[in-house]
Amino acid sequence: MPTSSTLPPLGRPLPSHVHVTPSLETPAPRVAPLKVLVVGASGGSGRATIEALLDAGHQVTAYARHGAALQGWGPRVQVVEGDVLVPEQVDRAVQGHDAVIITLGIRESALRVRLFGAARTAMNVRSLGTRHVVAAMLRHGVRRLVVQTSFGVGETRDRLPRLYRLMFQLLLKPQVADTERQEREVRDSGLDWVIAQPVNLVDVRDEGLPCASARGEVQGMQVSRRQVGRFLAHAVGSSDYLGRSVALSA
Ligand SMILES: NC(=O)c1ccc[n+]([C@@H]2O[C@H](COP(=O)([O-])OP(=O)(O)OC[C@H]3O[C@@H](n4cnc5c(N)ncnc54)[C@H](OP(=O)(O)O)[C@@H]3O)[C@@H](O)[C@H]2O)c1
Repeated sequence: MPTSSTLPPLGRPLPSHVHVTPSLETPAPRVAPLKVLVVGASGGSGRATIEALLDAGHQVTAYARHGAALQGWGPRVQVVEGDVLVPEQVDRAVQGHDAVIITLGIRESALRVRLFGAARTAMNVRSLGTRHVVAAMLRHGVRRLVVQTSFGVGETRDRLPRLYRLMFQLLLKPQVADTERQEREVRDSGLDWVIAQPVNLVDVRDEGLPCASARGEVQGMQVSRRQVGRFLAHAVGSSDYLGRSVALSA
């Protein structure tokens, strides 16, 4: 199992400390189509992930609270409406899949959430939602779990630049605390898991995979949701990063 891997980002030379793993240096071989459940499908990362899964030939179930936010994907995406905080709904959604990708978060202004709490989403949605997904996966024998958290949490806590550390402490503290709990849920799950830790997410049309490092190395502090989505779609069908926390940057 590699300890670190990356794709050359858009022709820029790689720094010497970043290791390139052949399995990602060349286009990943297409794996047999999988049935993949995406939890958090209506968010920016969820949508980018669905697009990448479809590109890779997988079948997708998009799970979200409001199905109307998920129309327009066509017949290869099944939409299932449900709340990740309701275990019975999660249980029904997980059954019959080969893998689950979680891109849960709070779709509200971070400042508002910090000052007044989230208006429409529970503050512990990441950890409690993940706990429900894990329980359902264990019940139904679904083994592969890929979870998007954040760079600067868990294994990369000490690697965060000072300015971001301040932002985590002041602006994002409760959300970061819940992401820490979420990572523990994943690590303790006993499943075949991968934790993906992107740096700041942006919405630009970057091609290819991001720089992916299981040693917590990053090339910069931005990465596109589309690149992250491609990594998540890769991780459901590959054993490259099993049991690893992987920093993603561009
Ligand atoms: N923003 C960044 O720069 C950044 C950087 C690194 C990591 N991250 C992390 O990456 C993750 C995804 O970020 P994002 O900005 O792409 O996502 P996002 O747009 O905030 O989307 C979050 C998703 O979670 C869903 N969700 C929330 N509560 C739910 C519930 N009770 N039941 C079902 N679904 C629920 C939302 O659905 P609704 O439409 O129903 O709300 C939405 O689909 C987050 O954990 C975030 O912290 C973000």
